[in-house]
Amino acid sequence: MKKTLLSVAVFSLLSAPALANNCDLVIESNDMMQFNKKEVQLSKACGQVNVTLKHVGKQPKNVMGHNIVFSKTKDASPVSIAGMSAGLANDYVPKNDPRVLGYSKVIGGGDSTTFTLDMAKFNKDEKYQFFCSFPGHASIMKGNVKVVD
Ligand code: CO
Repeated sequence: MKKTLLSVAVFSLLSAPALANNCDLVIESNDMMQFNKKEVQLSKACGQVNVTLKHVGKQPKNVMGHNIVFSKTKDASPVSIAGMSAGLANDYVPKNDPRVLGYSKVIGGGDSTTFTLDMAKFNKDEKYQFFCSFPGHASIMKGNVKVVD
């Protein structure tokens, strides 16, 4: 009886903030060059959002690698072009580029990676995208970012 009450109390503590604000974002990618989301929501109230990218496929990262990059929508295309020159060693992301608001490393099948987005870099009046900057992927692997309070 005592144990049951404790479990209920712990569950309530853990689940209440998660319901109020989702500050953890999980996105899956696969061997078909797809993300499993077309739009994500980022909350300013989080301060920081932990983004986890999973690759549920089997292909190695030099063949079907994926990352996830956040930028303003107008910067997405030039950033992905600059990322190609940066190469796999730099995760196909231009170094120290202020247009890059956050990014993960490139991963292959079966891998997972997490990074943190600083919500101070996002505002509600701007349009943002997430995309994969692996060469040739950004035209398909992309989605819109909705910024909320
Ligand atoms: Co990709």
